Amino acid sequence: MSLWSLLSTLILGRGSVLLLLVYLFRLSVRLWHRTQLWDLQHCSTDLTGKTAVVTGANSGIGRVVSQELARRGARVILACRNRKRGQQALAEIQAACKDACLLLWDVDMSSMASIRSFVRLLLQECPEIHLLVNNAAVCGIPTTLTPEGLDLTFATNYVGPFLLTNLLQGALQRAGSARVINISSAWQTHGYFDEEHLTGAGGPLTFNQNYYCSKLLLTSITGEFARRLQGTGVTVNSVEPGYVYTDIMRQLPWYFRFSFWISSFFIKDPIEGANPVLYLSLAKELDGVSGKYFSSSCVITSPPEAAQDPQMAQSLWNTSVKLANLNKTD
Ligand SMILES: NC(=O)c1ccc[n+]([C@@H]2O[C@H](COP(=O)([O-])OP(=O)(O)OC[C@H]3O[C@@H](n4cnc5c(N)ncnc54)[C@H](OP(=O)(O)O)[C@@H]3O)[C@@H](O)[C@H]2O)c1
Repeated sequence: MSLWSLLSTLILGRGSVLLLLVYLFRLSVRLWHRTQLWDLQHCSTDLTGKTAVVTGANSGIGRVVSQELARRGARVILACRNRKRGQQALAEIQAACKDACLLLWDVDMSSMASIRSFVRLLLQECPEIHLLVNNAAVCGIPTTLTPEGLDLTFATNYVGPFLLTNLLQGALQRAGSARVINISSAWQTHGYFDEEHLTGAGGPLTFNQNYYCSKLLLTSITGEFARRLQGTGVTVNSVEPGYVYTDIMRQLPWYFRFSFWISSFFIKDPIEGANPVLYLSLAKELDGVSGKYFSSSCVITSPPEAAQDPQMAQSLWNTSVKLANLNKTD
């Protein structure tokens, strides 16, 4: 055997072994993900006659959730900020699910004015809402103030869902039994509680910590909503979908996106990421369950301590009422 063929055998041999190992590792991680999933196929919940609102429905988890809700007969409001991307998602869902009843409406969740005009239109068309999925979020955006004086990340991920849920409270209660689902993140454990962040002030934030803090606030206010809506037939829970390969990192530097892409071989895809959100939306055993935080494997778990403190949540509520101008009548 020549030196060259000996070398190529060794290199190719090692390369193939390495590839095989990576492939086996990927396969076992993906199989493990599958074992964590809730059995969606065996859930018989039918949503005919029900109305669901999904924010950020045009991509990732929101798109998959919208499709499954529509497949089960719900009229689904795709609440999107970008009409073109919304139309594309609508066409894709419609193609996959011929009888889907979908409405595409514009809303910019970082703008309280936009949320108010969205709700005005929505309530004219849909006086009862059975499901609200607060899914839209941004990540990787440095402190930036919106024209309304809120920090863009906190406005989109926290104040917007706070206002939307409040403005839809009447419609949710009229439905008799309704669910609100707030999509949080396991990364919230790296956040901390500071209400001043909402207006772009407050304590220092390391890279992307505004995203983590906004998710912590969302989990905290979930508990406060649940306390306030007790006995009304409306339940409010939050869930973390796990590490899912979607467009969520689009604002982050290229090296983050690149490592996210590499990790995409091992992490969840949007169908798997949507599974715990669909569990909270559809599972019959969750009737009446409220104020809980669910892990990506659909288990009730304890959120970070700061998100469990009712006094902090109450104070956050009062601040949010002022910032979102909730008592404004129009
Ligand atoms: N992917 C993960 O690993 C992961 C982990 C934990 C939690 N989550 C959470 O899961 C949820 C869904 O995220 P994803 O992973 O599916 O990411 P995604 O594909 O980027 O979806 C986010 C959606 O939010 C929309 N959005 C952003 N800003 C908005 C605004 N101001 N008004 C209205 N819509 C807006 C986006 O619309 P455009 O297309 O117009 O930008 C997009 O449709 C988010 O709450 C995210 O924080 C994701």
